[in-house]
Amino acid sequence: MSATPADGTPIDGAPLPLNTEALRKDFPLLARTVNGRPIVYLDAAASALQPRSVIDAMTRYYERSHANVHRGVYATAEEATALYERARLAAGRFVGAPNPAAEVVFTKNTTESLNLVARSWGRDNLRAGDAVLLTEMEHHSNIVPWMLLSEELGGLDLRYLPVDGDGRLVLDDLERLLDGVKVVGISAMSNVLGTINPVRLVADAAHRHGAVVVADGAQLVPHAPVDVQELGADFIAYSGHKAMGPTGIGVLWGRAELLESMPPFLGGGGMILDVKLDSFRPAPPPARFEAGTPPIAEAVGLTAALAYLDDIGMERIRAHERALTDHALARLDEKLGRDVTIFGPPAGPDRGGVLSFAYRDVHAHDLAQVLDQYGVCVRPGHHCAKPLMRTLGVQATARASLSLFSDDNDIEVLIEGLLEAGRLFG
Ligand code: ALA
Repeated sequence: MSATPADGTPIDGAPLPLNTEALRKDFPLLARTVNGRPIVYLDAAASALQPRSVIDAMTRYYERSHANVHRGVYATAEEATALYERARLAAGRFVGAPNPAAEVVFTKNTTESLNLVARSWGRDNLRAGDAVLLTEMEHHSNIVPWMLLSEELGGLDLRYLPVDGDGRLVLDDLERLLDGVKVVGISAMSNVLGTINPVRLVADAAHRHGAVVVADGAQLVPHAPVDVQELGADFIAYSGHKAMGPTGIGVLWGRAELLESMPPFLGGGGMILDVKLDSFRPAPPPARFEAGTPPIAEAVGLTAALAYLDDIGMERIRAHERALTDHALARLDEKLGRDVTIFGPPAGPDRGGVLSFAYRDVHAHDLAQVLDQYGVCVRPGHHCAKPLMRTLGVQATARASLSLFSDDNDIEVLIEGLLEAGRLFG
Protein backbone atom coordinates (compact mmCIF):
# COMPACT_ATOMS: atom_id res chain seq x y z
CA MET A 1 0.00 0.00 0.00
CA SER A 2 1.23 3.48 -0.83
CA ALA A 3 2.25 5.65 2.14
CA THR A 4 0.61 8.67 0.55
CA PRO A 5 -2.93 9.83 -0.03
CA ALA A 6 -4.25 9.70 -3.59
CA ASP A 7 -2.95 13.14 -4.54
CA GLY A 8 0.64 12.14 -3.71
CA THR A 9 1.19 14.55 -0.82
CA PRO A 10 3.77 12.81 1.36
CA ILE A 11 2.80 12.17 4.95
CA ASP A 12 6.30 12.42 6.33
CA GLY A 13 8.22 15.20 4.61
CA ALA A 14 8.33 16.74 1.17
CA PRO A 15 9.46 14.56 -1.72
CA LEU A 16 12.72 15.49 -3.43
CA PRO A 17 12.12 18.03 -6.17
CA LEU A 18 12.59 16.90 -9.76
CA ASN A 19 15.53 18.10 -11.82
CA THR A 20 13.52 18.91 -14.93
CA GLU A 21 16.58 20.10 -16.85
CA ALA A 22 18.20 16.67 -16.46
CA LEU A 23 14.93 14.81 -17.09
CA ARG A 24 14.30 16.66 -20.35
CA LYS A 25 17.45 15.07 -21.77
CA ASP A 26 15.74 11.68 -21.47
CA PHE A 27 13.15 12.68 -24.10
CA PRO A 28 14.54 12.77 -27.65
CA LEU A 29 11.54 14.67 -29.02
CA LEU A 30 12.23 17.62 -26.70
CA ALA A 31 15.48 18.25 -28.59
CA ARG A 32 13.66 19.40 -31.72
CA THR A 33 12.46 22.82 -32.64
CA VAL A 34 9.04 23.78 -34.00
CA ASN A 35 8.66 26.90 -36.13
CA GLY A 36 12.18 27.86 -35.13
CA ARG A 37 11.43 27.66 -31.40
CA PRO A 38 12.30 24.95 -28.86
CA ILE A 39 9.28 22.69 -28.46
CA VAL A 40 7.13 23.36 -25.39
CA TYR A 41 5.18 20.15 -24.99
CA LEU A 42 2.00 20.80 -23.00
CA ASP A 43 -0.20 17.99 -24.32
CA ALA A 44 0.52 15.06 -21.99
CA ALA A 45 -3.21 14.59 -21.40
CA ALA A 46 -3.62 13.66 -25.07
CA SER A 47 -0.39 11.68 -25.28
CA ALA A 48 2.79 11.79 -23.22
CA LEU A 49 6.26 11.77 -24.75
CA GLN A 50 8.50 8.71 -24.51
CA PRO A 51 11.87 8.61 -22.77
CA ARG A 52 14.82 7.07 -24.62
CA SER A 53 14.61 3.95 -22.41
CA VAL A 54 11.16 3.12 -23.83
CA ILE A 55 12.24 3.58 -27.44
CA ASP A 56 15.40 1.53 -26.82
CA ALA A 57 13.50 -1.30 -25.12
CA MET A 58 11.15 -1.60 -28.10
CA THR A 59 13.99 -1.45 -30.62
CA ARG A 60 15.93 -4.10 -28.67
CA TYR A 61 12.86 -6.30 -28.58
CA TYR A 62 12.33 -6.04 -32.36
CA GLU A 63 16.04 -6.58 -33.04
CA ARG A 64 16.53 -9.53 -30.69
CA SER A 65 13.38 -11.20 -29.39
CA HIS A 66 10.40 -10.59 -31.64
CA ALA A 67 8.00 -13.51 -32.12
CA ASN A 68 4.35 -14.18 -31.45
CA VAL A 69 3.45 -14.99 -27.84
CA HIS A 70 1.82 -18.03 -26.19
CA ARG A 71 2.34 -20.08 -29.37
CA GLY A 72 5.88 -21.03 -30.36
CA VAL A 73 8.33 -23.12 -28.32
CA TYR A 74 11.53 -21.79 -29.89
CA ALA A 75 13.83 -19.50 -27.91
CA THR A 76 12.68 -16.12 -29.19
CA ALA A 77 9.00 -17.09 -28.89
CA GLU A 78 9.59 -17.96 -25.26
CA GLU A 79 11.50 -14.74 -24.70
CA ALA A 80 8.67 -12.72 -26.27
CA THR A 81 6.10 -14.54 -24.11
CA ALA A 82 8.15 -13.91 -20.96
CA LEU A 83 8.51 -10.21 -21.83
CA TYR A 84 4.79 -9.91 -22.53
CA GLU A 85 3.82 -11.57 -19.24
CA ARG A 86 6.40 -9.47 -17.38
CA ALA A 87 4.60 -6.39 -18.69
CA ARG A 88 1.34 -7.68 -17.22
CA LEU A 89 2.96 -7.93 -13.79
CA ALA A 90 4.46 -4.44 -14.16
CA ALA A 91 1.14 -2.92 -15.28
CA GLY A 92 -0.65 -4.47 -12.30
CA ARG A 93 2.01 -3.70 -9.71
CA PHE A 94 2.06 -0.08 -10.89
CA VAL A 95 -1.48 0.30 -9.53
CA GLY A 96 -1.05 -2.01 -6.53
CA ALA A 97 -2.96 -4.98 -8.00
CA PRO A 98 -2.93 -7.88 -5.53
CA ASN A 99 -2.71 -10.54 -8.26
CA PRO A 100 -1.63 -8.94 -11.55
CA ALA A 101 -1.17 -12.25 -13.41
CA ALA A 102 -4.92 -12.88 -13.21
CA GLU A 103 -6.32 -9.36 -12.95
CA VAL A 104 -4.66 -7.37 -15.74
CA VAL A 105 -6.02 -7.48 -19.27
CA PHE A 106 -4.18 -5.80 -22.12
CA THR A 107 -6.29 -3.87 -24.60
CA LYS A 108 -5.64 -1.22 -27.23
CA ASN A 109 -6.22 1.79 -24.96
CA THR A 110 -8.39 3.06 -22.11
CA THR A 111 -11.34 3.39 -24.47
CA GLU A 112 -11.19 -0.30 -25.37
CA SER A 113 -10.81 -1.24 -21.69
CA LEU A 114 -13.97 0.68 -20.79
CA ASN A 115 -15.83 -0.79 -23.78
CA LEU A 116 -14.75 -4.24 -22.62
CA VAL A 117 -16.39 -3.69 -19.24
CA ALA A 118 -19.61 -2.40 -20.80
CA ARG A 119 -19.79 -5.08 -23.50
CA SER A 120 -18.82 -8.00 -21.31
CA TRP A 121 -19.80 -7.28 -17.71
CA GLY A 122 -22.54 -4.84 -18.69
CA ARG A 123 -24.26 -6.99 -21.29
CA ASP A 124 -24.16 -9.96 -18.94
CA ASN A 125 -25.49 -8.14 -15.88
CA LEU A 126 -27.77 -5.32 -17.04
CA ARG A 127 -31.34 -5.50 -18.28
CA ALA A 128 -33.68 -2.92 -19.84
CA GLY A 129 -34.52 -0.25 -17.29
CA ASP A 130 -31.46 -0.83 -15.09
CA ALA A 131 -29.76 2.30 -13.80
CA VAL A 132 -26.19 3.38 -14.62
CA LEU A 133 -24.64 6.34 -12.80
CA LEU A 134 -21.96 8.33 -14.65
CA THR A 135 -20.62 11.84 -14.14
CA GLU A 136 -21.07 14.89 -16.33
CA MET A 137 -17.30 15.14 -16.64
CA GLU A 138 -16.78 11.69 -18.17
CA HIS A 139 -14.83 11.32 -21.38
CA HIS A 140 -17.02 9.95 -24.19
CA SER A 141 -15.31 6.59 -23.65
CA ASN A 142 -17.10 6.17 -20.31
CA ILE A 143 -20.46 7.39 -21.68
CA VAL A 144 -20.94 6.11 -25.23
CA PRO A 145 -20.29 2.40 -24.46
CA TRP A 146 -23.13 2.57 -21.91
CA MET A 147 -25.34 4.31 -24.48
CA LEU A 148 -24.58 1.62 -27.05
CA LEU A 149 -25.51 -1.00 -24.48
CA SER A 150 -28.66 0.93 -23.64
CA GLU A 151 -29.70 0.81 -27.31
CA GLU A 152 -29.03 -2.90 -27.46
CA LEU A 153 -30.85 -3.76 -24.24
CA GLY A 154 -33.88 -1.60 -24.95
CA GLY A 155 -33.11 1.33 -22.69
CA LEU A 156 -30.97 1.84 -19.58
CA ASP A 157 -31.67 4.57 -17.03
CA LEU A 158 -28.55 6.73 -17.50
CA ARG A 159 -28.01 9.12 -14.61
CA TYR A 160 -25.27 11.70 -14.10
CA LEU A 161 -23.52 13.23 -11.11
CA PRO A 162 -23.48 16.98 -11.86
CA VAL A 163 -20.44 19.26 -11.85
CA ASP A 164 -20.34 22.52 -9.87
CA GLY A 165 -18.95 25.92 -10.86
CA ASP A 166 -15.49 24.94 -9.59
CA GLY A 167 -15.43 21.80 -11.70
CA ARG A 168 -16.04 19.41 -8.82
CA LEU A 169 -18.64 16.69 -8.61
CA VAL A 170 -21.79 17.62 -6.69
CA LEU A 171 -22.33 14.75 -4.28
CA ASP A 172 -25.31 16.12 -2.33
CA ASP A 173 -27.71 13.79 -4.13
CA LEU A 174 -25.36 10.83 -4.36
CA GLU A 175 -27.48 8.50 -2.22
CA ARG A 176 -30.65 9.26 -4.15
CA LEU A 177 -28.90 8.89 -7.50
CA LEU A 178 -27.41 5.57 -6.41
CA ASP A 179 -30.79 4.09 -5.59
CA GLY A 180 -31.19 1.01 -7.78
CA VAL A 181 -27.93 1.64 -9.67
CA LYS A 182 -26.07 -1.42 -10.98
CA VAL A 183 -22.89 0.25 -12.20
CA VAL A 184 -21.07 3.54 -11.58
CA GLY A 185 -18.59 4.99 -14.11
CA ILE A 186 -16.30 7.70 -12.77
CA SER A 187 -13.23 9.44 -14.06
CA ALA A 188 -10.46 9.39 -11.46
CA MET A 189 -9.18 12.68 -12.91
CA SER A 190 -10.95 14.80 -15.50
CA ASN A 191 -9.14 15.21 -18.84
CA VAL A 192 -10.67 18.69 -19.14
CA LEU A 193 -10.88 20.13 -15.63
CA GLY A 194 -7.97 18.38 -13.96
CA THR A 195 -10.31 17.56 -11.06
CA ILE A 196 -9.11 14.59 -9.03
CA ASN A 197 -12.37 12.97 -8.04
CA PRO A 198 -13.14 11.32 -4.68
CA VAL A 199 -13.38 7.85 -6.21
CA ARG A 200 -13.10 6.12 -2.84
CA LEU A 201 -16.03 8.00 -1.37
CA VAL A 202 -18.21 7.34 -4.42
CA ALA A 203 -17.10 3.69 -4.63
CA ASP A 204 -17.87 3.02 -0.96
CA ALA A 205 -21.35 4.51 -1.37
CA ALA A 206 -21.88 2.61 -4.64
CA HIS A 207 -20.89 -0.67 -3.00
CA ARG A 208 -23.38 -0.09 -0.17
CA HIS A 209 -25.99 -0.01 -2.96
CA GLY A 210 -24.59 -3.19 -4.51
CA ALA A 211 -23.20 -1.42 -7.61
CA VAL A 212 -19.98 -2.18 -9.47
CA VAL A 213 -17.57 0.74 -9.99
CA VAL A 214 -15.58 1.39 -13.17
CA ALA A 215 -12.88 4.07 -12.87
CA ASP A 216 -11.32 5.79 -15.86
CA GLY A 217 -7.71 6.14 -14.73
CA ALA A 218 -6.29 7.46 -18.02
CA GLN A 219 -5.35 10.84 -16.56
CA LEU A 220 -4.66 10.01 -12.90
CA VAL A 221 -2.57 6.83 -13.13
CA PRO A 222 0.33 8.47 -15.05
CA HIS A 223 0.43 11.50 -12.74
CA ALA A 224 -0.13 10.40 -9.12
CA PRO A 225 0.30 7.29 -6.98
CA VAL A 226 -2.70 5.00 -7.48
CA ASP A 227 -3.39 1.89 -5.45
CA VAL A 228 -6.45 -0.06 -6.57
CA GLN A 229 -7.06 -1.33 -3.07
CA GLU A 230 -7.16 2.22 -1.69
CA LEU A 231 -9.13 3.55 -4.64
CA GLY A 232 -11.94 1.09 -4.04
CA ALA A 233 -13.12 0.71 -7.66
CA ASP A 234 -13.82 -2.74 -9.13
CA PHE A 235 -12.22 -1.90 -12.48
CA ILE A 236 -9.69 0.71 -13.51
CA ALA A 237 -8.48 1.46 -17.01
CA TYR A 238 -5.40 3.34 -18.18
CA SER A 239 -3.37 3.80 -21.37
CA GLY A 240 0.28 3.10 -22.12
CA HIS A 241 0.82 6.20 -24.24
CA LYS A 242 -0.35 8.60 -21.52
CA ALA A 243 2.09 6.92 -19.11
CA MET A 244 5.14 7.62 -21.33
CA GLY A 245 4.81 4.28 -23.06
CA PRO A 246 3.83 3.57 -26.66
CA THR A 247 0.43 3.95 -28.29
CA GLY A 248 -1.54 0.76 -28.97
CA ILE A 249 -1.64 -0.71 -25.48
CA GLY A 250 -4.20 -0.17 -22.74
CA VAL A 251 -4.61 -1.75 -19.35
CA LEU A 252 -7.74 -2.99 -17.64
CA TRP A 253 -7.40 -4.04 -14.02
CA GLY A 254 -10.44 -5.80 -12.62
CA ARG A 255 -11.29 -7.73 -9.47
CA ALA A 256 -10.50 -11.38 -10.14
CA GLU A 257 -13.96 -12.66 -9.24
CA LEU A 258 -15.60 -10.20 -11.65
CA LEU A 259 -13.26 -11.05 -14.53
CA GLU A 260 -13.86 -14.75 -13.82
CA SER A 261 -17.59 -14.25 -14.19
CA MET A 262 -17.44 -12.29 -17.46
CA PRO A 263 -17.94 -13.65 -20.97
CA PRO A 264 -15.35 -12.97 -23.71
CA PHE A 265 -15.28 -9.57 -25.38
CA LEU A 266 -13.87 -10.63 -28.75
CA GLY A 267 -13.56 -14.11 -30.23
CA GLY A 268 -10.50 -15.57 -31.93
CA GLY A 269 -7.13 -17.12 -31.28
CA GLY A 270 -5.67 -17.15 -27.80
CA MET A 271 -8.94 -16.74 -25.87
CA ILE A 272 -10.22 -20.33 -25.90
CA LEU A 273 -9.58 -23.67 -24.19
CA ASP A 274 -11.33 -25.65 -26.91
CA VAL A 275 -13.36 -25.08 -30.08
CA LYS A 276 -15.67 -27.61 -31.73
CA LEU A 277 -17.79 -27.13 -34.83
CA ASP A 278 -20.75 -26.13 -32.71
CA SER A 279 -19.29 -24.64 -29.53
CA PHE A 280 -16.26 -23.26 -27.70
CA ARG A 281 -14.94 -23.12 -24.15
CA PRO A 282 -13.26 -19.83 -23.22
CA ALA A 283 -9.88 -19.65 -21.50
CA PRO A 284 -9.68 -18.20 -17.98
CA PRO A 285 -8.92 -14.48 -17.61
CA PRO A 286 -6.88 -12.62 -18.68
CA ALA A 287 -6.41 -14.70 -21.88
CA ARG A 288 -10.21 -14.85 -22.26
CA PHE A 289 -10.21 -11.15 -23.13
CA GLU A 290 -7.13 -11.06 -25.36
CA ALA A 291 -8.22 -12.52 -28.71
CA GLY A 292 -5.66 -12.37 -31.51
CA THR A 293 -2.03 -11.33 -31.47
CA PRO A 294 -1.68 -8.82 -28.63
CA PRO A 295 0.43 -5.63 -28.52
CA ILE A 296 3.75 -7.34 -27.71
CA ALA A 297 6.33 -4.68 -28.53
CA GLU A 298 4.00 -2.15 -26.92
CA ALA A 299 3.93 -4.26 -23.74
CA VAL A 300 7.74 -4.22 -23.70
CA GLY A 301 7.66 -0.44 -24.08
CA LEU A 302 5.07 -0.16 -21.32
CA THR A 303 7.30 -2.11 -18.90
CA ALA A 304 10.12 0.34 -19.60
CA ALA A 305 7.80 3.35 -19.23
CA LEU A 306 6.42 2.23 -15.88
CA ALA A 307 9.96 1.48 -14.66
CA TYR A 308 10.96 5.00 -15.70
CA LEU A 309 8.06 6.52 -13.72
CA ASP A 310 8.71 4.23 -10.76
CA ASP A 311 12.40 5.13 -10.68
CA ILE A 312 11.51 8.80 -10.37
CA GLY A 313 8.66 8.05 -7.97
CA MET A 314 5.00 8.87 -8.43
CA GLU A 315 4.91 10.95 -5.22
CA ARG A 316 7.66 13.17 -6.61
CA ILE A 317 5.95 13.43 -9.99
CA ARG A 318 2.66 14.41 -8.37
CA ALA A 319 4.36 16.93 -6.07
CA HIS A 320 6.18 18.52 -9.02
CA GLU A 321 3.10 18.73 -11.21
CA ARG A 322 0.96 20.00 -8.35
CA ALA A 323 3.43 22.80 -7.55
CA LEU A 324 3.71 23.72 -11.23
CA THR A 325 -0.08 23.69 -11.62
CA ASP A 326 -0.41 26.07 -8.66
CA HIS A 327 2.30 28.27 -10.17
CA ALA A 328 0.67 28.22 -13.64
CA LEU A 329 -2.74 29.15 -12.22
CA ALA A 330 -1.19 32.07 -10.34
CA ARG A 331 0.91 33.27 -13.30
CA LEU A 332 -1.97 33.07 -15.79
CA ASP A 333 -4.08 35.10 -13.41
CA GLU A 334 -1.28 37.61 -12.77
CA LYS A 335 -0.43 38.16 -16.46
CA LEU A 336 -3.83 37.74 -18.13
CA GLY A 337 -6.25 38.52 -15.32
CA ARG A 338 -9.89 38.59 -16.31
CA ASP A 339 -9.04 37.93 -19.96
CA VAL A 340 -8.48 34.27 -19.14
CA THR A 341 -11.04 31.83 -17.75
CA ILE A 342 -9.55 28.66 -16.38
CA PHE A 343 -11.99 25.80 -15.91
CA GLY A 344 -11.66 23.41 -13.00
CA PRO A 345 -10.90 23.64 -9.29
CA PRO A 346 -8.55 26.24 -7.81
CA ALA A 347 -5.04 25.22 -6.74
CA GLY A 348 -5.14 22.41 -4.22
CA PRO A 349 -4.88 18.71 -3.55
CA ASP A 350 -7.74 17.80 -5.91
CA ARG A 351 -6.28 19.74 -8.85
CA GLY A 352 -4.25 17.80 -11.43
CA GLY A 353 -1.96 19.29 -14.06
CA VAL A 354 -4.59 19.82 -16.76
CA LEU A 355 -5.38 23.47 -17.51
CA SER A 356 -8.31 24.11 -19.83
CA PHE A 357 -8.94 27.72 -20.57
CA ALA A 358 -10.69 30.33 -22.66
CA TYR A 359 -8.84 33.54 -23.53
CA ARG A 360 -10.96 36.61 -24.30
CA ASP A 361 -13.28 35.41 -27.06
CA VAL A 362 -10.50 33.95 -29.20
CA HIS A 363 -11.50 30.55 -30.55
CA ALA A 364 -9.57 27.65 -29.00
CA HIS A 365 -8.29 26.56 -32.43
CA ASP A 366 -6.97 30.06 -33.15
CA LEU A 367 -5.26 30.08 -29.75
CA ALA A 368 -3.65 26.72 -30.47
CA GLN A 369 -2.45 27.91 -33.88
CA VAL A 370 -0.82 31.04 -32.50
CA LEU A 371 0.74 28.99 -29.70
CA ASP A 372 2.15 26.63 -32.30
CA GLN A 373 4.12 29.57 -33.71
CA TYR A 374 5.80 29.70 -30.29
CA GLY A 375 6.53 25.97 -30.35
CA VAL A 376 3.78 25.39 -27.75
CA CYS A 377 1.74 22.18 -28.14
CA VAL A 378 -1.74 22.38 -26.59
CA ARG A 379 -4.97 20.65 -27.53
CA PRO A 380 -7.95 22.72 -28.66
CA GLY A 381 -11.47 21.30 -28.92
CA HIS A 382 -14.10 19.52 -26.90
CA HIS A 383 -11.64 16.92 -25.56
CA CYS A 384 -14.09 14.09 -26.16
CA ALA A 385 -16.24 15.48 -23.35
CA LYS A 386 -19.14 17.19 -25.13
CA PRO A 387 -21.63 16.86 -22.26
CA LEU A 388 -19.12 18.67 -20.02
CA MET A 389 -18.59 21.39 -22.66
CA ARG A 390 -22.35 22.03 -22.56
CA THR A 391 -22.26 22.26 -18.76
CA LEU A 392 -19.38 24.75 -19.00
CA GLY A 393 -21.29 26.69 -21.65
CA VAL A 394 -18.50 26.56 -24.23
CA GLN A 395 -17.97 24.88 -27.60
CA ALA A 396 -14.31 24.20 -26.94
CA THR A 397 -11.37 25.05 -24.72
CA ALA A 398 -7.62 25.19 -25.23
CA ARG A 399 -5.91 22.75 -22.90
CA ALA A 400 -2.35 22.79 -21.60
CA SER A 401 -1.39 19.64 -19.73
CA LEU A 402 1.76 19.07 -17.73
CA SER A 403 4.40 16.36 -17.65
CA LEU A 404 7.12 15.52 -15.17
CA PHE A 405 9.56 17.54 -17.32
CA SER A 406 7.37 20.66 -17.57
CA ASP A 407 8.80 23.77 -15.96
CA ASP A 408 8.27 27.48 -15.25
CA ASN A 409 9.70 28.44 -18.63
CA ASP A 410 7.00 26.39 -20.40
CA ILE A 411 4.37 28.44 -18.58
CA GLU A 412 6.09 31.72 -19.53
CA VAL A 413 6.19 30.76 -23.23
CA LEU A 414 2.52 29.74 -23.02
CA ILE A 415 1.67 33.19 -21.61
CA GLU A 416 3.81 34.92 -24.26
CA GLY A 417 1.88 33.07 -26.98
CA LEU A 418 -1.48 33.91 -25.40
CA LEU A 419 -0.61 37.60 -25.24
CA GLU A 420 0.25 37.49 -28.93
CA ALA A 421 -3.06 35.74 -29.69
CA GLY A 422 -4.78 38.55 -27.79
CA ARG A 423 -3.00 41.13 -29.98
CA LEU A 424 -3.92 39.29 -33.19
CA PHE A 425 -7.52 38.35 -32.40
CA GLY A 426 -8.57 40.24 -29.31
N1 ALA B 1 -8.38 11.37 -24.09
C1 ALA B 1 -7.30 12.13 -24.63
C2 ALA B 1 -7.43 13.60 -24.35
O1 ALA B 1 -8.09 13.99 -23.45
C3 ALA B 1 -7.04 11.84 -26.05
O2 ALA B 1 -6.84 14.37 -25.06
